[in-house]
Amino acid sequence: MAWENQYMQMVKSKPGIILAEEDRSDVSDAARLELRQRAASHKRLFVELGSGSGLHLLTLAEQNRDALCIGLEIRFKRAFKTGEKAERMGLSNLLVMRSDARQIGQLFGDGEVDGFFVNYPDPWDKRRWLKNRLLNPELLLTMRRLLKPDGFLRYKTDHQEYFASTAKLLADGGWRIAKQTTDLLSSSLTDENIPTEFEYLFKSQGKPLCMLEALT
Ligand SMILES: C[S@@+](CC[C@H](N)C(=O)[O-])C[C@H]1O[C@@H](n2cnc3c(N)ncnc32)[C@H](O)[C@@H]1O
Repeated sequence: MAWENQYMQMVKSKPGIILAEEDRSDVSDAARLELRQRAASHKRLFVELGSGSGLHLLTLAEQNRDALCIGLEIRFKRAFKTGEKAERMGLSNLLVMRSDARQIGQLFGDGEVDGFFVNYPDPWDKRRWLKNRLLNPELLLTMRRLLKPDGFLRYKTDHQEYFASTAKLLADGGWRIAKQTTDLLSSSLTDENIPTEFEYLFKSQGKPLCMLEALT
């Protein structure tokens, strides 16, 4: 695990871009304070859960300079790569947190977030693993609380069953599904789509991609 230790240290080398929490199970007051201060100087706040190596987050930040775009990514290497690219691109409105995205309830205040993005979360599709899914009723409830009244959740997956079951959870939870497709690349929604690293992979495998936008 030498490489893993290497990235555990490297994420600390870019404090203005990468916030690296030591303890995976808790959120420090220092991290909360830094988020508050950074968010205060931007008009909007977008949060991506499981931002991977950052392609979507970087493009989002580039296209929305008035918004603070925060990526939450549990893997040190992916968080570091994102921070490295953001620095190269001179993006001062991007922050990547090496942390567990399930902690959003401790990181953000009620009605503070303009939009959540969840792109190709791990499907955990064996029956006994379903409880590990990121998009579960509890997290959706938290997201709804953190969103502004006109806020949104955008979700993409290559996994048809995860898509259908999340759409049902959203409807049951009182969300309104404003846009959806089970074939993103042939739909008109592709015009506004920002691709991700995993999306390119699934596209190359010929998999149909699903996308939805839900409003509170
Ligand atoms: C299948 S990958 C998709 C990555 C990226 N969104 C994309 O589309 O290219 C799922 C990502 O979520 C991250 N992840 C999984 N569980 C997480 C959690 N609880 N908190 C933060 N990140 C998580 C993984 O490390 C991985 O980078």
